[in-house]
Amino acid sequence: MSRAMILGTGRGVPAGILTNYDLEKMVDTSDEWITTRTGIKERRKAVAGEETSYLAAEAGRDALSDAGLGVDDLDMIIVATVTADMIMPSCACLVQKHLGAHGCFAFDVNAACSGFLYACSIAEKYIRADSSQKILVVGAETMSSRVDWQDRNTCVIFGDGAGAVVLGGSVDDRGFVAEKMYSDGGLYELLYIDNAQSMNTDLQNPDYDGSYVRMAGREVFKHAVRAMAQAVDEVLVKAGVSPEALTLVIPHQANIRIVNKLRTTLGLSSEKVYVNVDKYGNTSAASIPLALAEASREGRLQPGDYVLFCAFGGGFTWGAQLVRW
Ligand code: UT7
Repeated sequence: MSRAMILGTGRGVPAGILTNYDLEKMVDTSDEWITTRTGIKERRKAVAGEETSYLAAEAGRDALSDAGLGVDDLDMIIVATVTADMIMPSCACLVQKHLGAHGCFAFDVNAACSGFLYACSIAEKYIRADSSQKILVVGAETMSSRVDWQDRNTCVIFGDGAGAVVLGGSVDDRGFVAEKMYSDGGLYELLYIDNAQSMNTDLQNPDYDGSYVRMAGREVFKHAVRAMAQAVDEVLVKAGVSPEALTLVIPHQANIRIVNKLRTTLGLSSEKVYVNVDKYGNTSAASIPLALAEASREGRLQPGDYVLFCAFGGGFTWGAQLVRW
């Protein structure tokens, strides 16, 4: 059985930039607080026409072009998102429509900030079963649509964007080497987005106060560092690869302090950990594929390098994946 490998990467981000200085005019915050507590300087904010499926399709086209493939080569499209344009159809079906892709199937994965890893985990199993398949995996979000713009605890953190990869069969030892994925629904109340109020009055939530991101930041922070470090350790042990052998770690871009804690726990130098949270904020499921696409274009990865992804998000969900580039 051949491994699944990454054949191309892509990105799609809204044009509009929202800086910390813009946020100073909207809520009681400061560039100094946001920069020191999160590392974020600016984030992208979508406008009409830049819905999640549009950004996802942009990233998908970019990844297909990078892979030298066309839409007709695709067997499957998976979109990881918690901000799909509609409840039905899935965002992946809308991406299929935007791309004009036929003869494949498409569905969404909801695992919040870990969604891209979950989606890759599914896709790579399909490719192990049939290495001729080509699968588009996208992480895409318009978190701006679910942020309470009066809540300084959350509105300064999140951003919009999309990243994508095309997966196909490997002919050598490159590709997905090992993974460790987890969730713990028991802790969901620390980070969640309520659905819209039910149309069935019997099922309506009397405490409903909007379909916004709700986050107990400090608690999430502690869990995120501990859980990601553990998953990374487990993956490296499973693969028999030492931290020193890693060329690049691409962690979920939630907060520079989480990234730095993870980096020191693993004993890695700063050059080995990719950071773009300063430009995009926390883009949830989009953060890892967006960072990967940028790292790849910057020439940070060469064939045979070990690159490690790790993520943590609502659910809770978390995990780590090791890829030979
Ligand atoms: O992607 C999924 C996973 N999500 C995460 O990983 C997010 C994890 N959490 C975090 O990144 C951090 O907890 C935050 C950046 C969200 C918050 O940083 P913190 O250092 O944990 O701050 P805090 O929530 O403990 O708040 C400290 C103070 C509070 O004031 P008091 O109570 O000490 O007077 C907050 O009200 O900072 C205040 N504060 C702000 N001040 C200025 C909270 N948000 C802001 C703000 N501007 N935007």
